[in-house]
Amino acid sequence: MPKFRQIFLLKCLCLLLCMAGCSPPEDPIKCASKNTNCTITNSYGAFPDRSRCRASAVAYPTTEEELISVVAKAAMDRTKMKAVTRFSHSIPKLVCTDGEDGLLISTKYLNRTLNIDPSAMTISIESGATLRQVIDEAAKAGLALPYAPYWWGLTIGGLLSSGAHGSSLWSKGSSVHEYVEQLRIITPAGRENGYVQVRTLDTSHEDLNAAKVSIGVLGVISQATLRLQPLFKRSIDYTTKNDSDLADQAATFGSRHEFADITWYPSQGKAVYRIDDRVPSNTSGNGLNDFTGFRSTSSLALALLRTTEENQELKGNADGKCTAAKLTTLALSRAAYGLTNNGIIFTGYPVIGYHNRLQASGTCLDSIEDARITACPWDPRVKGQFFHQTTFSIALSRVRSFIRDVQKLLEIEPKAMCGLELYNGILMRYVKASTAYLGKQEDALDFDITHYRSKDPMTPRLYEDILEEVEQMGLFKYGGLPHWAKNRNLAFDGAIKKYKNAWKFLKVKERYDPLGLFSSEWTDQVLGLKKGVTIFKKGCALEGLCICSEDSHCAPEKGYFCRPGKVYKDARVCTLSRDETYH
Ligand SMILES: Cc1cc2nc3c(=O)[nH]c(=O)nc-3n(C[C@H](O)[C@H](O)[C@H](O)COP(=O)(O)OP(=O)(O)OC[C@H]3O[C@@H](n4cnc5c(N)ncnc54)[C@H](O)[C@@H]3O)c2cc1C
Ligand SMILES: *[C@@H]1O[C@H](CO)[C@@H](O)[C@H](O)[C@H]1NC(C)=O
Ligand SMILES: *[C@@H]1O[C@H](CO)[C@@H](O)[C@H](O)[C@H]1NC(C)=O
Ligand SMILES: *[C@@H]1O[C@H](CO)[C@@H](O)[C@H](O)[C@H]1NC(C)=O
Ligand SMILES: *[C@@H]1O[C@H](CO)[C@@H](O)[C@H](O)[C@H]1NC(C)=O
Repeated sequence: MPKFRQIFLLKCLCLLLCMAGCSPPEDPIKCASKNTNCTITNSYGAFPDRSRCRASAVAYPTTEEELISVVAKAAMDRTKMKAVTRFSHSIPKLVCTDGEDGLLISTKYLNRTLNIDPSAMTISIESGATLRQVIDEAAKAGLALPYAPYWWGLTIGGLLSSGAHGSSLWSKGSSVHEYVEQLRIITPAGRENGYVQVRTLDTSHEDLNAAKVSIGVLGVISQATLRLQPLFKRSIDYTTKNDSDLADQAATFGSRHEFADITWYPSQGKAVYRIDDRVPSNTSGNGLNDFTGFRSTSSLALALLRTTEENQELKGNADGKCTAAKLTTLALSRAAYGLTNNGIIFTGYPVIGYHNRLQASGTCLDSIEDARITACPWDPRVKGQFFHQTTFSIALSRVRSFIRDVQKLLEIEPKAMCGLELYNGILMRYVKASTAYLGKQEDALDFDITHYRSKDPMTPRLYEDILEEVEQMGLFKYGGLPHWAKNRNLAFDGAIKKYKNAWKFLKVKERYDPLGLFSSEWTDQVLGLKKGVTIFKKGCALEGLCICSEDSHCAPEKGYFCRPGKVYKDARVCTLSRDETYH
């Protein structure tokens, strides 16, 4: 057969395979041969240090019994292991085992709904079930998970382990782990116990405070029972205001509305307040949330936007970014952020509807087409979004001063934050103090900041210094707690010292997994058991692997030097200093 025909056929075959298999996000695990010799990454295709992690094998238990024997076998062999999920959404290297000999235990096929008890108002599901499944199944029984993250694709095991949340100061707050009634967790054991122990923890068991937010180091959660409520309706309204009184508003707005959050566009000087409360169930309306940012997006459009952004970065075109940011914000608000009043069109606020249709979304999870046509905006298979995500929660009592400080920075560099407005600004969500040992210590406001990341780790960003200063200010000056599943390495520097019950967590870990089979270098570092959360090397501060302490940690050859912050003088940030470029 002529060579070109072979290639043509190959292409057709590939296209067919892709049509059938590549539409939803890619599997983060790749194995050289069937389930052995594997690598894992996250859903963005990039950990903070951009490595892929290796493991000798991946197991796909389909029942709890299989899971138990997988853990037992690995414990007997003293193999390092980790629970991993279908999508692997966490940014830091939580899902990695050390070295190359570890075992990944996927919860992909542990996704059944086990029981819904309408009278007790609980749902029991396997840990690989997604948030979307829980919401859907509960709604079918006339029930609702009251508070949840905004993205459907998270698994129950993953979102509990990393302390994921939505936004609320009401009831027990917005973290899903506050509504856990029972967890079953499979932990390794010694020979006398057959190398494995199945632990059932309910709310009367003190260990639940460790297991409900565990960053995966205690064992594998096999199933969870969550407390639900009768399904209810909500009414959502967005009000845009200038941000001159945001510092005063932010601390109190959360107590006024059950599902309140705020999106802040700092360079535009605007804040969008989400006025969102329960309404009587006979209020008319069948609203739907299909958040624009979580929809299948044309790969062509994604590439175009990314190219534009790359060019603006290359040319230092701050004005271009500010113009683009305004357009993006306008388009989003015109599109009502993906809200419709009846599932089809948006006719105006308030949008009223059932909670299950409004609390989370993520239709890009089931994009029907080839990823080369549409994809989730951050899908690493296409040229699209590539970003850093800095997320920390600041105690409500300190939020006012933090916002003031950020505004002082903006007075010095008004255009500095247009870049993050391209990623829909700073999302501010309310979280409550938790009994979880690794949960929130006080009622707090969580700041979620998404911003440009270069494909080249040695290339500095526009206003590198300002964003680094905000990051260090939030985390160190104001003692912010980093989201376990987001952030760059520096955020976790000393973070564990901010948790007063961290020692209790470590005691449970010692009992559940004395050999540390579920621990890795990264989790040991994060838990303060090992040094080295931050990595010092050339250019390390650009990727947030370190806080710069000398110029080489920035990019002196490109004019970026390690300098103190402008408002927070203790910060050390990579600052563009044109005068020094040609020394
Ligand atoms: C588009 C998008 C939107 C997001 N929105 C929100 C949001 O609204 N609010 C929020 O708080 N966060 C949000 N996040 C972050 C998110 O909370 C975390 O990335 C998420 O919790 C990880 O869930 P996962 O199922 O992908 O787990 P993974 O990232 O795969 O795993 C996370 C950790 O949990 C462990 N783990 C997983 N399953 C088990 C198990 N069965 N037993 C024991 N340990 C387990 C893993 O070992 C790992 O340590 C978002 C992320 C993305 C990508
Ligand atoms: C694992 O795969 C790599 C290539 O991805 C290969 O070089 C290596 O030899 C393989 N190891 C084993 C044990 O199969
Ligand atoms: C469970 O996961 C499998 C594999 O990803 C999937 O095919 C199946 O549809 C999922 N089940 C439910 C109920 O979502
Ligand atoms: C912001 O809005 C308030 C009224 O809510 C107004 O008094 C103030 O002048 C506005 N500030 C700016 C900078 O527009
Ligand atoms: C809803 O029901 C209450 C009584 O339960 C009634 O007073 C109210 O008028 C009803 N509202 C609508 C819009 O039907």
